Amino acid sequence: MYIDVEYPENRGDFYKLLREQLALYAGGESDRTAALANASAVLKLAFPQANWAGFYLTAGEELILGPFQGRPAVTRIPFGAGVCGAAWREGRAQVVEDVSCFEGHIACDCASHSEIVIPLRGEDGTIWGVLDMDSAEFAAFDQEDEAGLTASTEVLRRFAS
Ligand code: SME
Repeated sequence: MYIDVEYPENRGDFYKLLREQLALYAGGESDRTAALANASAVLKLAFPQANWAGFYLTAGEELILGPFQGRPAVTRIPFGAGVCGAAWREGRAQVVEDVSCFEGHIACDCASHSEIVIPLRGEDGTIWGVLDMDSAEFAAFDQEDEAGLTASTEVLRRFAS
């Protein structure tokens, strides 16, 4: 059963609690779909400024939509396409303050103005998917979120491959 938590304003404390929540609701589950479904729910609850939080999983030369919370979204993203594909191709997080300025951005919800995408790596460094979060606010995510989300999503590493 989910127990509501109040996320602290202090970013260090916020990310400590987020990591604990991800470990609690996703880290102990062995099924990837179930774990990522709960992880997307935890993330959506933790970020009231997010209108979409979820996962795209690598499959050959594309990313395929995985568990998420939000409006229906594009199901397949080719390698290198959009913000998600850029994170995969470049092997680094993308923090986009205004998606209209990101060439090739794939619009799923026209209400979204900013976005963060975090590559998810396995033990061997291979990217097995990305975490994508969108917001109707401009510049809703920053470098601290990049660091915090990168660290927090380490609890999902077991789902590589
Ligand atoms: N905006 C993303 C596509 C996925 S949706 O935002 C959920 C992109 O440009 O890759």
